[in-house]
Amino acid sequence: MTTPYLDAERRSAHEAALARAEAANAMLRATRRDRWYPRWHIAAAAGWINDPNGVCFYHDEYHVFFQHHPVDSSWGPMHWGHVSSPDLVHWRRESIALAPSTPEDADGVWSGSCVVGDDGRLYAFYTGQRWRNGVDEAEGNIQVQCLAVSDDGRHFDKLGPVVEVDDRLWHARDPKVWRTGDTWFMIFAVSTLDKRAEVWLYTSDDLLGWTFDRVLYRDPDKSVYMLECPDLFPLGDHWVLLACPMGPRPNGYTGRNGHNNGYVVGDWAPGHDFVPLTGHQVLDWGHNYYAPTTMQTPDGRRLMFGWMGSFVHPIASQVEDGWVGQLAVPRELSLDNDLVLRSVPLTELVRLRSDPVEHGAFVLGLNEDRVVLDDVDAAEIEIEVDLAVTTSDRVGLRLGEAADGSHTFLAWDDLAERVVIDRRLAAHGDRGVRGAPHTGKHLTLRILVDRSSVEVFIDGGRNVVSSLVFPGDGSRRLTLASESGTIAVDALRIWRLGDIGLSA
Ligand code: FRU
Repeated sequence: MTTPYLDAERRSAHEAALARAEAANAMLRATRRDRWYPRWHIAAAAGWINDPNGVCFYHDEYHVFFQHHPVDSSWGPMHWGHVSSPDLVHWRRESIALAPSTPEDADGVWSGSCVVGDDGRLYAFYTGQRWRNGVDEAEGNIQVQCLAVSDDGRHFDKLGPVVEVDDRLWHARDPKVWRTGDTWFMIFAVSTLDKRAEVWLYTSDDLLGWTFDRVLYRDPDKSVYMLECPDLFPLGDHWVLLACPMGPRPNGYTGRNGHNNGYVVGDWAPGHDFVPLTGHQVLDWGHNYYAPTTMQTPDGRRLMFGWMGSFVHPIASQVEDGWVGQLAVPRELSLDNDLVLRSVPLTELVRLRSDPVEHGAFVLGLNEDRVVLDDVDAAEIEIEVDLAVTTSDRVGLRLGEAADGSHTFLAWDDLAERVVIDRRLAAHGDRGVRGAPHTGKHLTLRILVDRSSVEVFIDGGRNVVSSLVFPGDGSRRLTLASESGTIAVDALRIWRLGDIGLSA
């Protein structure tokens, strides 16, 4: 099965493909518009990005790769873009790491993961993508799991396919590799011949030769035909399987995005089946959180990176601004006693804070508006509300409110019993309402705002809502608003958030 190749011709073909990609991206970069370009989220210099890939710690640096189309701001033949960081807070833009250049990845270097081998080299596993008809997905894909290795985390040599499956399968992709004990494991997502979504498990002793172990998971929901970007990792006393279902129908507040995220908690050990302890649960209730992947930090934290974007709806910045898509704030994961996956922003994020403003406890009167920040470009807001005393229908925050009244509405909605993000009055882009449940009489929201996104962590990360939002021209106010009642604010804290080093 293993046919590693490494010859000068293939290396120079890859180098030429990388050079072409860089040149095209530099031209696009020259025309980028920055009104919505993130100050503190990872995004491409220009062009399209989707999934985070190969997140890892290697040679004392953090590396984040991502699905990238450098030529224009639409999805196209995928490359791996690359940024690195000494501290997870400040990032440096690196050259594009992988480009389509071999017969197996002729139509794209798709998602995957990185591990450090026993020889100290960085092993990048990715899906080599080919359209069966050479043009598009109409007749399906030919997808194989490929390997590329690096000595510096920046320059990769492609070693070719390491796992091939029945090529009648429509989808077989997104390898995630890890080690438990002395054995390497790989999972990837498969859509079976009868269109069911499965996650397949392989094992290896040397990262080169791989043996099929078992079907690790089969989605019980027959409407789901694929579980993109699976990840499996231990957390607390259990294992968590992240996977993004394709095909589920909208049901209330779930399944409404073109692409939806989720997880299952279970038990697993090498040589055994994965035993689910929960059903499919929602990871993030917003419009735009997809394809999350995790890594373990040297100090033992499980860190999750996800993509904020959409394949389905045009994104405002795509049209005129020359870039689209960003990675969400890195999130630290933990499992609570109810087997709920909690996620909170990376601890180190506080280093980006400046200009603190503390409002203390106050009551917002009946039908009152209070501007709490004149210009929310990039900011963090923490608000604690006593819902036992609050009588307002909604604890409303108008985000990015422009002179023409356009804004995104973020609220605790007592009628819906949810924390909602409502984009009906947004100046640009896709609309729609999403919302996460909250119970209890004390509400805590930690709200992270960037130039075109908002991420809301509810009750210490028990639920999260993340959405792209594209404000109108001019200053972007943040206004607290009550409706047909009063709001009892226990605390309101605001900081500005600084630049992570990628926006230039
Ligand atoms: C998920 C996904 C992956 C695939 C990649 C292609 O967003 O569709 O399954 O590897 O994006 O860009």
